[in-house]
Amino acid sequence: MAEEMAPQLTASAAPQGGAQGPSGGRADLLLALKDVHAWYGESHILHGVDLTVNRGEVVTLLGRNGAGRTTTLKAILGLVGRRSGSIVVHGTETVHLPPHRIAHLGLGYCPEERGIFASLSCEENLLLPPPVATGGMSLEEIYAMFPNLRERRTSPGGRLSGGEQQMLSVARILRTGAKLLLLDEISEGLAPVIVQALGRAIRALRGKGLTIVMVEQNFRFAAPLADRFYVVEHGRVIEAFGADELEARRGMLHEVLGV
Ligand SMILES: Nc1ncnc2c1ncn2[C@@H]1O[C@H](COP(=O)(O)OP(=O)(O)O)[C@@H](O)[C@H]1O
Ligand SMILES: [Mg+2]
Repeated sequence: MAEEMAPQLTASAAPQGGAQGPSGGRADLLLALKDVHAWYGESHILHGVDLTVNRGEVVTLLGRNGAGRTTTLKAILGLVGRRSGSIVVHGTETVHLPPHRIAHLGLGYCPEERGIFASLSCEENLLLPPPVATGGMSLEEIYAMFPNLRERRTSPGGRLSGGEQQMLSVARILRTGAKLLLLDEISEGLAPVIVQALGRAIRALRGKGLTIVMVEQNFRFAAPLADRFYVVEHGRVIEAFGADELEARRGMLHEVLGV
């Protein structure tokens, strides 16, 4: 049953239902969620999320705190208590797969809590995650993208500033070869100069052909980076639109997000 969806999805020119690719033309579907529900224990958090991400896109999930954006990322990775519906990654139905199998389809996750090991050096933190696919960036390439990390390579993770820790938690998934990056609130609480550096990194990664799904509270950061947006509320997608429609959606965004 679930497997039958895969060829159909890869063969289709544009995502089914919901948002279309930015051009509306031949979209190369990398991730497709259909009617996804998720639970933590008895708590039913996602109530039928539908979303699609095309290869090479930057897609941003907007929403109020508690809307279900982090849970959507965790559901994709299999890190919730229970999930149902369909989550197709690269043509493979993953909703019944364990997290390690899902990661090996080329996913990289940067969690909200960053997860830096305080007693390991910056470089040891960088070298820690095992590859999930071929073609990961070299240390040299990563240091070229984040020069601060090169300077701090021998410093313990716990001694890095918040901004350095955030760069490290993004940088560390680039070595793994992941082609689909799930980034949770990476700009949160950081100084503007660091937020700008992260924005440049996102652009550079997009330029390398990586696909990025970002959860963001910081609309000013997300707005110029994303190709498409989803607004999540009460565990559902309530709006989906492309960057070209951003201006027209200002009123709705102000109402829903206060931005
Ligand atoms: N581990 C958990 N156990 C139970 N409920 C949770 C857990 N994590 C999050 N929630 C609840 O799920 C809802 C969605 O949370 P979350 O996905 O973190 O929202 P967002 O990232 O959009 O702020 C919230 O009501 C939150 O309290
Ligand atoms: Mg969150």
